[in-house]
Amino acid sequence: MIFVSRQEHFNAAHKLYNTAWTPEKNEEVFGPCANTNWHGHNFDLIVTVKGEPDPDTGFVVDLKKLSQLIRKEVIEKVDHKNLNVDVPFMAGKMASTENLAIEIWKILEQKLGSVSQTARLHCIKLYETPRNFVEYYG
Ligand code: NI
Repeated sequence: MIFVSRQEHFNAAHKLYNTAWTPEKNEEVFGPCANTNWHGHNFDLIVTVKGEPDPDTGFVVDLKKLSQLIRKEVIEKVDHKNLNVDVPFMAGKMASTENLAIEIWKILEQKLGSVSQTARLHCIKLYETPRNFVEYYG
């Protein structure tokens, strides 16, 4: 078993705000992340798949095809968007990095078969800042 990763990048706006709470409680829990008029991040998304190298190509997955898949299914839907209001798959969810990583996993797990018959999704690693990141293993 070998693990292969592809990194992509996007920018997006969001805020962390729980509508069931008072403005004061949101401010207390989320601080400036609850700012009414949004804020943005430069996200780095690292998608890791796993499998055995194909005997003919030596590849677990064609990284060009994996990149195209990530861009079409994820990046185009979130890049330069507001995660709270523009992104259907985040509708009704707190726009946290955790929830975003989980939704990205669900999308790519369904679609990975279109670029590889054998590779399986292993990890979604999502950097919100260089020092804040989450990992999701399904
Ligand atoms: Ni934020």
